[in-house]
Amino acid sequence: MSDATIESVLHESRLFAPPEALAATARIGSMAAYQALADQAEADPDRFWGDQAREHLHWFEPFHTVLNWSDPPFARWFEGGTTNLSYNCLDRHLEGPRANKTALIWEGEPGDGGSYTYRELHSEVCKAANALKALGISKGDLVALYMPMVPEAAIAMLACARIGAPHSVVFGGFSAEALRDRLIDGAVKLVITADGGFRKDKAVALKPAVDQALAEGCPTVQQVLVVQRTKQPTAMEPGRDHWWHELVAGQSSDCPAEPMQSEDRLFVLYTSGSTGKPKGVVHTTAGYNLWAHLTFQWIFDIREDDIHWCTADVGWITGHSYIVYGPLSNGATTVMYEGAPRPAKPGAFWEVIEKHKVSIFYTAPTAIRAFMKNGREVPDQYNMSSLRILGTVGEPINPEAWMWYRDVIGGNRCPVVDTWWQTETGGVMISPLPGATPTKPGSATLPLPGIAADVVDIDGSSVGVDEGGYLAIRRPWPGMLRTVHGDPERFLSSYWQHIRPADGSYIYFAGDGARRDKDGYFWVMGRVDDVINVSGHRLGTMEIESALVSHPAVAEAAVVGRPDELKGEGIVAFVILQGDCHGDAELVKSLRQHVGVEIGPIARPDEIRFSDALPKTRSGKIMRRILRALAAGEKVSGDTSTLEDLSVLDKLRSEA
Ligand code: WT7
Repeated sequence: MSDATIESVLHESRLFAPPEALAATARIGSMAAYQALADQAEADPDRFWGDQAREHLHWFEPFHTVLNWSDPPFARWFEGGTTNLSYNCLDRHLEGPRANKTALIWEGEPGDGGSYTYRELHSEVCKAANALKALGISKGDLVALYMPMVPEAAIAMLACARIGAPHSVVFGGFSAEALRDRLIDGAVKLVITADGGFRKDKAVALKPAVDQALAEGCPTVQQVLVVQRTKQPTAMEPGRDHWWHELVAGQSSDCPAEPMQSEDRLFVLYTSGSTGKPKGVVHTTAGYNLWAHLTFQWIFDIREDDIHWCTADVGWITGHSYIVYGPLSNGATTVMYEGAPRPAKPGAFWEVIEKHKVSIFYTAPTAIRAFMKNGREVPDQYNMSSLRILGTVGEPINPEAWMWYRDVIGGNRCPVVDTWWQTETGGVMISPLPGATPTKPGSATLPLPGIAADVVDIDGSSVGVDEGGYLAIRRPWPGMLRTVHGDPERFLSSYWQHIRPADGSYIYFAGDGARRDKDGYFWVMGRVDDVINVSGHRLGTMEIESALVSHPAVAEAAVVGRPDELKGEGIVAFVILQGDCHGDAELVKSLRQHVGVEIGPIARPDEIRFSDALPKTRSGKIMRRILRALAAGEKVSGDTSTLEDLSVLDKLRSEA
């Protein structure tokens, strides 16, 4: 065993009890309390979820059915009820002292910023909602957001929810091409964007990407609403483009929240799968709201005076659930930060924590590993005594990074909650409860109450202790995705037909591999499908392959992930060129750039290897297992007898 492996095993076998003071006051303050809730949920799920929904959401009309599972796996939760996410995040906090509590703290990259009380945020959201109506948006119309991390992003999301117009937030780092795909797929009517955002002290334009996407043809998009952030020169098309500050400012701050049916569509969020283009994950009103609310409360044991900061971007589900909806639904104070740490400002995050006295900090392993590399000297310069809970999300966290996080950032006093979940699950599924669950570095520990998570084999039987298998969810939960936008077949095939129990029941397949240890703790091992996780960003290998193949020099491409110390996974592309093309450094550059244009900079391969053949089975399937081994510099082991042409292997090895 290498030193690193030994260290990792030592860390993994450690157990950290929740701090006593926290356990004494936490909502769920012991394993017995956790178990009691979990048992209750298991014994009578309808009653459990029904009680939670009545307790935590405001209902205009009560629901009559908790779960309608008569057409599995298409679930309908809380039928008969009407509610509104924007109402739950704003209006219901206005009656008491929370009205003047800070709802949102915004920290811009150049050091500007500001904050909104619940009353102020409510007023801004109402004005924005009225502006949407003025632009002809009504219930059911899909609105896309392509935004930097500015308060208007959250305001726009809440405004959409307020009038019942589902949103589709597209991460601002995606290219015009990727944006266009999503606008077309969703038949989007309105795009909300900004002139640009600040990145590394520079104003980076966003609006031109919208112009480009629309110029190439997005017939359904009629209007564009533009937030002025950077004040850089921005072309505006008369009749189509409107400035936010001109249109929104003049609107009335009175806009009652539309009572929405529980199953009305709340948002679509695109995510990558193993096949084809990204799929539009559909979430609906009440179930999503309940799950974002409840998980936020459980996982962070939220208190009235907490300052919560999640470092994600609103373009991802983490931003939806834990910057905007979970915190606001709970009446908490949420921090939104435009910047990112970088060599010139390695202490940027710690500065935000010190300045705003952040008490709950939620970030990704890739960021933690980057901080580790800079050394503890950087965070040690800041006063971070306000912190009380640390969270991580996005990819498996290695025990070393977990220990460093707990020690250096949390001063060994803050529990670390490693939260496993997905765009599709709406909110966290497997995570410690900070006042109850003893933690083990590297493990997401146990499923939340009501979540029937398991590790299973292909026929749905639980595997044994410490045996690897598929991470699966056996029962529906309120935050589950309802379908894939416009493609129910894909919903079925991606999530519900992989694991096939003999009794024909439906088990949700998450796409991850995992094992459970003797204590029932989950250890998530990473994706088992053709999805890779680069710095917590989920990318389909096939998407990157299609992007490469659309370059004139490329005949065929195969993309795999390889372990990367900082990013979790790096992207390696094996490329076969068209007859007369030559694979040189210039072409590598041009291919990387091309992928950046097709998808976005996050999808650019770290390494491109040219080859004249790919390892394929006799039926023509690329043997990715072999490519993964080659990309990682490992020996190719296992069965190669199905390989069509063994000499391909030697060629690939010698090229590398
Ligand atoms: C995939 C989902 C959900 C928020 C961010 C990513 C991986 C996520 C963990 C964790 C191990 C994790 C899984 C999952 N993942 N959290 N705590 N431990 N792996 O959302 O883009 O939908 O990606 O991220 O592989 O399937 P996403």
